[in-house]
Amino acid sequence: MSAVGTEPAPEVAALKPPIGMLAELTHRCPLQCPYCSNPVELVRRSGELSTEEWADVFRQAGAMGVLQVHLSGGEPTARKDLPELVAAARSADLYTNLITAGVLLTRESLGRLVEAGLDHVQLSLQDSVAENAERIGNFRGGHAKKLEVAGWVVEAGLPLTVNVVVHRQNLDHLDDIIDMALGLRAHRLEIAHTQYYGWALSNRHNLMPTRSQVERATAIAQAAEERCRGRMVIDYVVPDYFARRPKRCMDGWGSQFFAVSPRGNMLPCHAAETITGLTFSSVRDHTLRWIWENDETFWKFRGTAWMPEPCRSCDRRDLDLGGCRCQAYALTGDASATDPVCELSPRHDVVVALVELDDRSNQPDYIYRR
Ligand SMILES: C[S@@+](CC[C@H](N)C(=O)[O-])C[C@H]1O[C@@H](n2cnc3c(N)ncnc32)[C@H](O)[C@@H]1O
Ligand code: SF4
Ligand code: SF4
Repeated sequence: MSAVGTEPAPEVAALKPPIGMLAELTHRCPLQCPYCSNPVELVRRSGELSTEEWADVFRQAGAMGVLQVHLSGGEPTARKDLPELVAAARSADLYTNLITAGVLLTRESLGRLVEAGLDHVQLSLQDSVAENAERIGNFRGGHAKKLEVAGWVVEAGLPLTVNVVVHRQNLDHLDDIIDMALGLRAHRLEIAHTQYYGWALSNRHNLMPTRSQVERATAIAQAAEERCRGRMVIDYVVPDYFARRPKRCMDGWGSQFFAVSPRGNMLPCHAAETITGLTFSSVRDHTLRWIWENDETFWKFRGTAWMPEPCRSCDRRDLDLGGCRCQAYALTGDASATDPVCELSPRHDVVVALVELDDRSNQPDYIYRR
C-alpha cells in the first residue's frame, strides 16, 4: 500500500494507529512449559535486538500513539538490561506491563524495575499444586518462588495479575487456582485456555481438555466471578475448540496491535510467524510507522475484503472478522480459510474430531520447550 506522491493512499489515510504492543524481548527462558506459544524455532541470544534498538522501537511506538507495551518473551527478566528497557518505554510515555514467569526475579531486581517506572506485573503460575506446576514448567522450586514474587509485587504497590494457562493437566484444580490467586491478593486472574501454536501445538495431545472438564471449569469460573466481585476480576473465555463461533482475534489483523519478535520482526500477532509463506519486515530495516502503513503482510487480512465464503456473506463478519488466521492455518494449512472453530466452516469437521478424541490419558509425555 504505497503512497502516491506525497498524498497517502485513501486506505492508509483511513488507517488508525495501533494502541498496544507486545515486545518479545528474548526467547530465552529457564522454564520449559509444553504449552508455550513461542515458536518451535527459537531466536538465539546473538540474534536479539540490542538495548538501543529496543529503546528506539519504544520511542517510535510512543510517537505513533501506542499507549501500552507488554514486556514479554521468552522470559523478559532473562534480559540484564530490563531496567533500562522499562525506563526507555516509560520515557516514551508507554504504560509498562511485565509478563513474567517470575523465577529469575529477586526482591532487589524487582525494586530496580519499580524504580525504572514499571506499572504492572502479570505473573504466570502453572497450577495450584506445586508438584504438578513444577512438572509442567520442568523447573524445580519454581512454584514456591513464584508465590514469593507475588508477595513482593503487592508489597511494592504494583497491581498484580495472575495468569494461569489451563489445559487437561491442571483444569480440574480450577477451584484451588482461584483461591490461590485470591490468597496472593491479585487484582485480576486471567484463566487462559491454551492456544495451540508453537510448542503448544506439538503438545496438543497432552493438553486438550475433555468436554466435561471444560463444562465443569466454565461453571466454576462463572460462579467465582460472582463470589470474587469487588476483590478480584476474573477473565475467563470458553476455549476456541469448544465454542460454536470463533473469537474476534486481536480485534482484527493489523487493527490495534502489533508484536515485535526478539530479532526485530514486526508482526500483526505474536503467533503470525507460525504461518509459513508470510514474510515479515524488520524494525532493523524500516520504521514501525512504515511497516504499519505499507507492509503487505499487515494488509493481507485487514478488514473484510480478503474473506472467502461463508464469511463473505455472513452477517457476523464484522463481529468476529472470520476468527483467527493462525488457528485457520494450524488446522487447515490455509491462513485465509474461515476459522474451522466456526460451525459454518466447511472444515469444522477437523475441530469436531479433535474435541471428540477419546484418547485422553492422564500420563502426559510432554515435549518440553527447549
Ligand atoms: C509466552 S509467555 C512469556 C512470558 C513469561 N515467560 C510467562 O510465561 O509468563 C506470555 C504469556 O502467554 C501465556 N501463554 C504461553 N503459552 C500460551 C498458550 N499456548 N496459550 C495461551 N497463553 C499462553 C503465558 O502464561 C504468559 O502469560
Ligand atoms: S510460557 Fe513457560 S516456557 Fe514459555 S516463555 Fe513463559 S515460562 Fe517460558
Ligand atoms: S462464517 Fe465466518 S463470519 Fe460467519 S460466524 Fe463463521 S467465522 Fe464468523
